[in-house]
Amino acid sequence: MARTLSIEPLAGTSFGAVVTGVKVAALDDATWRELHTAWLKHALLIFPDQHLKRDEQIAFAKRFGPLEFEMAAISNVKSDGSLRIEADNDDVMKILKGNMGWHCDSTYMPVQAKGAVFSAEVVPSIGGRTGFADMRAAWDALDEALKARIETLTAHHSLHHSQSKLGHQTKKRDGEYSGYGLHDGPVPLRQLVKVHPETGRKSLLIGRHAHNIPGLDKAESERLLQELVDFACQPPRIYHHDWTAGDAVVWDNRCLLHQATPWDMTQPRVMWHSRIAGNPASEAALN
Ligand code: OGA
Ligand code: MN
Repeated sequence: MARTLSIEPLAGTSFGAVVTGVKVAALDDATWRELHTAWLKHALLIFPDQHLKRDEQIAFAKRFGPLEFEMAAISNVKSDGSLRIEADNDDVMKILKGNMGWHCDSTYMPVQAKGAVFSAEVVPSIGGRTGFADMRAAWDALDEALKARIETLTAHHSLHHSQSKLGHQTKKRDGEYSGYGLHDGPVPLRQLVKVHPETGRKSLLIGRHAHNIPGLDKAESERLLQELVDFACQPPRIYHHDWTAGDAVVWDNRCLLHQATPWDMTQPRVMWHSRIAGNPASEAALN
């Protein structure tokens, strides 16, 4: 029996949709166009029961554009198959913990990411959900005075900064951590309000990598950025996905924040991330 594509918006949120009746590993062009349109509208598409093989995930991600990287394990399982010990707090563990703060990917790089295909291979029995927050709806919900205040502001974005706030003395290539994102060039400066290059919608570009707004003193900058995240990442603008092994999602990193959530790290969690590169014309830093 032919399956029919269904794109069901999430209930009670401003974004996100569950897509069934399709295998993303075998898309015809018409279905791809429909999905792409839905992705721009909903910003997060959730595909249950995909069980993507490595090559299938990479090929699906490439539909959205060139990749920043093809496939990275986001996991508390080491390459030798053993579990990473939470209390050891090695550099990979520190990055996993860091991911639990609301953030946007690769804003600390010269070009921020366009999005990601993210899939679940092994999931813990409880917890380890991934949260998403709609920064378009957050912008829309701000009062006019605050909109006017922040519209012209910029912030620096750095993974060194966000990790050091968690007590992580960042250095490259310690143990299994590749050091990805510990960018050494000029600290990227970005507008606080981003215009989406494909939809034209404005959104807040904030999250844990943002700091040091030029023109504000450090404490005031910190306070404003925290206030914005606290306001933005509230219902009905958030959704936390409870993973089932085999699920895949694709999110738009140009208008959503995301976060991991805690789980019992004596249980394995193996996730795969394919990062879609931003367009330098619209996702490059200002400096
Ligand atoms: C990421 C990320 C969150 C999670 O892969 O970029 O932030 O739930 N992951 O693991
Ligand atoms: Mn991330």
